[in-house]
Amino acid sequence: MAKYDNNFTDQLRQRLSVVDVVSRRVPLVKRGQNYWGCCPFHNEKTPSFSVSEDKGFYHCFGCGKHGDIISFTMESEHVDFKTAIAELADMAGLKLPTYKPKTKQQIESEESYITITAAAAKIYAEKLFSPDGAHALEYVRRRGFSDEMIKKYGIGYAPKNNIISNKFANIKQEKVIATGLVRRGDYGLYDFFRDKLMFPIFNAHGQIVAFSGRSLDGSEPKYINTTDTEMFHKRQTLFGFNFARESIHRANRAIIVEGQIDAIQMQCHGFGETVAPLGTALTEDHIAILCKANRNIIFCFDGDGAGQKAAARACGIILPFLRDNSDVRFAFVTGGKDPDEVLKNGGPGEMKKIIDSATPLVDFLWNITNKNYLINTPAGRVQAEKFIKTNTDKITDKMLRAEYEREYNNRKFNEWHKWKKNSDTVNIDVPEIDNIIKNTLVYIVNKFPSVAERYGDFISKFNLDLDSDVKVDFDMDLKSAEKYIITLKIQKYMESLEKQKHDLMVRGLSGESDVSQEIRRIDDEINRMREKFDLLV
Ligand code: UTP
Ligand code: MN
Repeated sequence: MAKYDNNFTDQLRQRLSVVDVVSRRVPLVKRGQNYWGCCPFHNEKTPSFSVSEDKGFYHCFGCGKHGDIISFTMESEHVDFKTAIAELADMAGLKLPTYKPKTKQQIESEESYITITAAAAKIYAEKLFSPDGAHALEYVRRRGFSDEMIKKYGIGYAPKNNIISNKFANIKQEKVIATGLVRRGDYGLYDFFRDKLMFPIFNAHGQIVAFSGRSLDGSEPKYINTTDTEMFHKRQTLFGFNFARESIHRANRAIIVEGQIDAIQMQCHGFGETVAPLGTALTEDHIAILCKANRNIIFCFDGDGAGQKAAARACGIILPFLRDNSDVRFAFVTGGKDPDEVLKNGGPGEMKKIIDSATPLVDFLWNITNKNYLINTPAGRVQAEKFIKTNTDKITDKMLRAEYEREYNNRKFNEWHKWKKNSDTVNIDVPEIDNIIKNTLVYIVNKFPSVAERYGDFISKFNLDLDSDVKVDFDMDLKSAEKYIITLKIQKYMESLEKQKHDLMVRGLSGESDVSQEIRRIDDEINRMREKFDLLV
């Protein structure tokens, strides 16, 4: 079998969920950690075909078939490798690269890359504990790093001189330049990182592919990262992911913070499931990687304006990835600038409070809508509605999208329109209605908020439970919905007139007063209403 460029197949595996791919052909049900269905490769009636999202594999306990998205596509559709890749690329929205098998040279250069970065990390790590690195060591300890943490995360110090260019002077220049650690200048090679506190960046396999260096003298930029190389793509890399994997699985969720020191401190203070993007806003690739690991995600942004903006952006990116088993929440840091500070000031307990009080996505989107638009004006409401629609349209799961739309329609009706708020004070005289009428009204309110609003004063008298899950076996259009409400209104009005008339007659019989004139007036009104009613039905 021809070998595809590993980068691309990895990218596909990263992008696509095995559950999504398999469930296009096999209905799956979640049981425990895994998904189950009837094996498409042998005949069976009880499901023994299991799919593991976080491992990216399926396994049939009946026939032993086992594989990933690529083998599944090949075998279930009886297509060759190339066709399967093309189809999956299409599904992932990725452009198929021109077919290029990995050459021996390429494999060699990747090996030399990893060898060089690993050797560089070792040099940096040693330098941190040398006299040259004293100020860096002092700094990193002050930031709350124990020696154990320094070791685990491979933290080091890049000295002021060109240590890497010099150490690797005897190997081919191109190979060192390829790692981004060294650049070519007018006077020969020089080190990219100098006088920096060094954080190795690991790929998912735990290999060092890049570095992030923090300035120690207050100079800007605060952080510099390896620019993209053959083996490091910033937009596809989450800092700390290699360490977090196991915890994400155990905690059954992932936390995303803004900075790498935040990620490290979180991981070391009871939130092992934390990762951070690297000096870039969150990308679709980041989200795809995380969603594959776990669909429960808590975004934890700094409490400043930038954090709010980043959250709104993240919300837009994650919507297409939402499934009915996703739990996505947004937390905002208080009591400090970022998680690192909160952990330092208030400890893990404070941080836990912030995480536990995270807002679910459905509410977060609603909140930012209400914050960003003038919902007390018609034009503002229209803008807000458009904003909500642009967002819900991004949800690719059809049923989920419909549910979100319904939810927001409810909220628009309940919260945007004043009359609903008054309902408590209006219901002095609640007309009696049965459940069928109640359900019909709830249905109309949810389906036609405009009609509901027009007759809001009337509808609000019934104290409807608008969130109740109403199932009706009819379908009304807007016109008949309106007619239904008008008819009901007239009917209820006539009932109240009849009651008034009855009360008057009781009073008249007791000889209290002359009520005949009043009764005649009510009779006229009843007749007028009856005519109106007859015209309608
Ligand atoms: P912050 O400015 O919030 O920094 O940037 P921080 O994480 O709190 O850093 P410390 O605590 O002062 O050390 C958040 C993240 O954005 C990236 C880094 O990954 C940083 O962790 N960043 C920031 C850069 O890549 N370059 C910069 O110049 C600044
Ligand atoms: Mn910080």
